[in-house]
Amino acid sequence: MHSDSGHTTSVWMAADVPELPQLAGNTRTSVCIVGAGIAGMTTAYMLARAGRAVVLIDDGPIGGGETGRTTAHITAALDDRYTEIEKLHGEDGARIAAESHTAAINRIESIASLEDIDCDYERLDGYLFLGGNDKKKLLEEELAAAHRAGLSDVELLDRAPIASFDTGPALRFPRQAQFHPLKYLNGLARAIVRDGGQLYSGTHAVTIEDGEPAKVTTSEGHVITADNVVVATNSPVNDWVILHTKQAAYRTYVIAARVPRGAIPRGLYWDTPDPYHYIRLQEVDPLLDPSHREELLIVGGEDHKTGQENDAEERFRRLEEWTRKRFPMIGNIDFRWSGQIMEPVDYMGFIGRNPGTDQHIYIATGDSGNGITHGTIAGILLTDMIMGRKNPWSKLYDPSRVTLRATPDFLKENLNVAAQFGDWATGSEISSYDEIPPGGGAVVRHGMKKIAVYRDEQGTIHQRSAVCTHLYCIVAWNSIERTWDCPCHGSRFDPYGQVVNGPAITPLPEVE
Ligand SMILES: Cc1cc2nc3c(=O)[nH]c(=O)nc-3n(C[C@H](O)[C@H](O)[C@H](O)COP(=O)(O)OP(=O)(O)OC[C@H]3O[C@@H](n4cnc5c(N)ncnc54)[C@H](O)[C@@H]3O)c2cc1C
Ligand code: FES
Repeated sequence: MHSDSGHTTSVWMAADVPELPQLAGNTRTSVCIVGAGIAGMTTAYMLARAGRAVVLIDDGPIGGGETGRTTAHITAALDDRYTEIEKLHGEDGARIAAESHTAAINRIESIASLEDIDCDYERLDGYLFLGGNDKKKLLEEELAAAHRAGLSDVELLDRAPIASFDTGPALRFPRQAQFHPLKYLNGLARAIVRDGGQLYSGTHAVTIEDGEPAKVTTSEGHVITADNVVVATNSPVNDWVILHTKQAAYRTYVIAARVPRGAIPRGLYWDTPDPYHYIRLQEVDPLLDPSHREELLIVGGEDHKTGQENDAEERFRRLEEWTRKRFPMIGNIDFRWSGQIMEPVDYMGFIGRNPGTDQHIYIATGDSGNGITHGTIAGILLTDMIMGRKNPWSKLYDPSRVTLRATPDFLKENLNVAAQFGDWATGSEISSYDEIPPGGGAVVRHGMKKIAVYRDEQGTIHQRSAVCTHLYCIVAWNSIERTWDCPCHGSRFDPYGQVVNGPAITPLPEVE
C-alpha cells in the first residue's frame, strides 16, 4: 500500500488495499464520513449495517493515515491508566472507560468473525511491567483502580512471562487482542460496499458545514449533501480552536526485528515510564519466511511532541539498544517507522457532536495510544447517536466536556503551544540552500517571511510558506517522514505543502 502519511513503511503496508475511485460529482446521502481509518471505516460499516446510506471519502488510500502506522494492541489496559482516569472522571467514568474499551475488543472480534475477515485477530494477555525508577506500589494502585473499574480478572504477577529478562512485578490483563489493521479495514470495506455504502479515495474535504442538509465540499468543488457528517480525520479538520486546546499531537517511533518463533511468548507488553515502550509479535510475511521459523518483534516508544524534535535516527538507535538489551535474540531491524498520536488532556477520546452550535456534525478524535479501541467505540457510539439511540458512554466521550481537574495539563500543553510562536523570530536553519541534501528540507528566513524549502531527489528546490494554515505557527522539517510538521497542534504537510494531517485543511501557501 502507498502510505500518504509519511515516507517510512510499517509492517502492515505490504497488504493490498482496494483501489477506490475519486468522487466525480455532487451527491446526496444520509451520512457522509470523512476519513478511512479505523474510526471512519468502523462508523461507515455500522451505519451501513443499520441500513443508512453512507458515502465515505478520504484523500488517500484506506488505512493510509495513522491506522496504517499503528501497532494494533487492542486493549482495555488504557495507557493513561485507571488510577489517573479515576482521578479525573471518577469511579463511574473509569468504569465506563473499561466497559467501552472491553466492548470494542469484543466488537472487533465479532465483526471479524461475522464478516469472515482474515485479519490475524488473536486473543492474548497483556502485561504491564515496571520501567525507569517506578515502584511496585504503582502497579498495586493500578490493580486496585482496574478492579474498581470492573476489570476484576486483572492480577499482579511476580514477572511477565518473558524468559530473556526479568521484568519484575507485572499486571496481567487477560483476553486482550491484536490484529493486522489493514487486513481488517479491507474486510470492512468489502462489507460496506456490499451493504450499499460508497467509498471514495483521492477526495479531499475542504469545507464542512452544518445545516439541513449538512455539506462537505471537496477540493475538486464537488458537494456532498448529507443529513449528518462524521469527521473521522484523526485530528478534526472542521473544529478550528476548541478541540485543539484540549489535545496535543505526539510523534512515536517503532522498530520491528525477526526473532526465532516461540522465543518470546505471544502477548502484549508495556512498561510504565512516560514515554513508555510497547511490544508485540507479528507473523512474518510467508514469502519472506517460507519455513515459518520466525516472527517479528515489534517495539515502539521514544515519543515527543510533534514538530518539536527532529532526531529520529537517535530515537531509533535508543529503541534498538533498549530492545537488544532485553531481547538479545533479535536479528536485523527489518522495519522502522513513526506515526502520530493525539493525546487528550483528560485522557479520554472526544467522540460525539462537534462542540459549539453544530447539530449534524460529529467528530472522533483524541485517540491516545488506544486509537484502535477508541475508533471502534466511535463506530458504536456515533451510530447510536445518529440512529437516535441513547448510549450510556456518550457523556464520558462528549467533545464538549470540561474536565476541570485536567486544568494543569491543559495549561501545560497550551503554554507549550504559545511558546512555539517564538519560531517567528528565529533566523534561517541554514546559511545556503546547498546545505539541503536531496530529499531534505529546511526553514529559511527571507526578510519577514519564513519559507519551507524542500530539495527533491532530482535536486529541484520547492518552496512554500512555512506558516501553518491552521493558526499560523511555523512548521518544522521531519526528515524521517519527509513532512512539514506543525509544533502547535500537529498539522502535517507533504514536502510540496499539501495537507497530510489536520487540523489544517488547506495547503501551505505558494511563495510570492
Ligand atoms: C506508532 C503507533 C502505534 C500505535 N499503537 C496503538 C496500539 O497499540 N493500540 C491502539 O489502540 N492504538 C494505537 N495507536 C493509535 C491508533 O493507531 C490511531 O489512533 C488510530 O489508528 C487512528 O485512527 P483514525 O481513524 O482516527 O485516524 P487515521 O487512521 O489517521 O484516519 C484518518 C483519515 O482521514 C483522512 N483525512 C484527513 N484529512 C482529510 C481531509 N481533509 N479530507 C479527506 N480525508 C482526510 C486521512 O487521509 C486518513 O486516512 C498507535 C498509533 C501509532 C502512530
Ligand atoms: S496546527 Fe495549529 S497552528 Fe499549525
